[in-house]
Amino acid sequence: MSGFEFISTSVNDQVGSIILNRPKVLNALNRKMVSEIVVAMETFDQNEDVRVILVTGEGRAFAAGADIDEMAEDGSIDFELLNQFAEWDRIALVKKPIICAVQGFALGGGFELVLACDMVLAAEDAEFGFPEVNIGVMPGAGGTQRLTKLLGRTQALQYLWTGDRITAKEAEAKGIINKLISPELLKDEAEKFAKRLSKQAPLSLRMIKESVNKAVDYSLYEGMQFERKNFYLLFSSEDQKEGMNAFIEKRRPKFKGK
Ligand code: CAA
Repeated sequence: MSGFEFISTSVNDQVGSIILNRPKVLNALNRKMVSEIVVAMETFDQNEDVRVILVTGEGRAFAAGADIDEMAEDGSIDFELLNQFAEWDRIALVKKPIICAVQGFALGGGFELVLACDMVLAAEDAEFGFPEVNIGVMPGAGGTQRLTKLLGRTQALQYLWTGDRITAKEAEAKGIINKLISPELLKDEAEKFAKRLSKQAPLSLRMIKESVNKAVDYSLYEGMQFERKNFYLLFSSEDQKEGMNAFIEKRRPKFKGK
């Protein structure tokens, strides 16, 4: 992939990397940058050489939020006509695992991007938060919804109303992130983890992601019906035969994603 202005991308060992690349403004997410991130994710989702997507930020921050300079003079009708946040919905439709590695600030839209990913590795210096309340607005790309589903109403309101930051340690304790890593090891560890996931059966990862996502919105009964169908579906895959035969033959499976 080429032609991006605010991100860079590469594919290495079946991991598709997206690097947020506006370090001078702490990777503030302008509209074009969000479009580029979404297009890169969708392109990797369709690329047979990619099994896992890894999002990282260049410089001392992951992303310090939506670009305040870009939107400061906008009115409601500009937002309505641009329908700016609709693009974020497309991230939820990406079928492959999306991992992010966070160092420094993940604020506002940057935190929303983190919450839109499937798993989060964070450096010990990472800080998460929704400071929108301090500048007279509120999150608009899923923050009030995803944080509430994750932490419950009272804790979500506390962070959204005060704008207080959540340290990496607190984020780990609250289940916002999967793993804390020392800053100097973050990149290597994130790549290692993404590569490890890329060796798992791709269709299993895909169906598990779809089923887990349904658990957020469905009743237990509906969710279990959905899960069951995905379980049955995997028995049409070559990888199910490969995985089970490898177990019986006491060898490591080689998954093709078919
Ligand atoms: N938009 C535009 N520029 C930003 C930015 C943002 N969100 N965040 C940081 N920058 C720029 C700064 O203006 C500064 O640029 P200059 O060097 O040209 O002055 C540069 O990045 C470095 O930032 P600071 O000098 O402020 O660095 P710091 O270490 O002193 O502070 C910070 C870091 C606490 C993150 C501070 O920059 C900050 O508060 N940023 C804004 C955070 C914020 O309010 N985010 C929410 C945005 S709204 C949103 O995201 C809505 C949504 O739901 C999508």
